[in-house]
Amino acid sequence: MGIYNWAVNQTFATIDAEPLSREEAEDWWEAHGKKSRLLVADGEEGVVGWGRLLPWGRRGLTATVEDLVYVDPLHHGSGIGKALLGRLLEEAHAMGYRTIVASVAADNRAGTRLHEAMGFKNVGTIHEGAFKFNRWMDITLMERQLG
Ligand SMILES: CC(C)(COP(=O)(O)OP(=O)(O)OC[C@H]1O[C@@H](n2cnc3c(N)ncnc32)[C@H](O)[C@@H]1OP(=O)(O)O)[C@@H](O)C(=O)NCCC(=O)NCCS
Repeated sequence: MGIYNWAVNQTFATIDAEPLSREEAEDWWEAHGKKSRLLVADGEEGVVGWGRLLPWGRRGLTATVEDLVYVDPLHHGSGIGKALLGRLLEEAHAMGYRTIVASVAADNRAGTRLHEAMGFKNVGTIHEGAFKFNRWMDITLMERQLG
């Protein structure tokens, strides 16, 4: 709560303009926090990667969670992504989710391969789902059942 309120007061990182009270923070945690997870991979020189579970933001799809995995480029290809995603799968199952999805840029070979290696299947393409660096991006939706 302290770190969040620092960002409220000092940065543009959040659109909230007023610090949260303890009650508001607890309400937020009750509504969202229990359905999310953050895992951090530590190396000798500090954080080398992180993985997140977030409720998939589609109304009613309460049994579906989305993963995000990010590894420090200096440590790519050494199994950290797989280790993080493996732990996220265990966590998601333990939290009661039935299905996990990932939205991966269609030309992101490492992201696609990581998810394939962990049992995800390509269930479709969202064409021109995002615009970045002056071009449209296709997004691959990948999915795996849990449990
Ligand atoms: C995707 C990412 C998390 C992979 O992490 P990593 O620690 O390098 O991956 P791992 O070493 O655990 O390898 C996982 C699998 O992907 C494959 N892989 C990794 N990098 C690859 C690349 N550049 N091209 C093709 N395959 C690749 C590995 O060979 C392995 O598959 P295998 O077991 O069949 O051999 C990492 O590249 C990254 O942080 N990218 C930027 C963020 C991102 O795209 N996240 C995914 C979308 S949410």
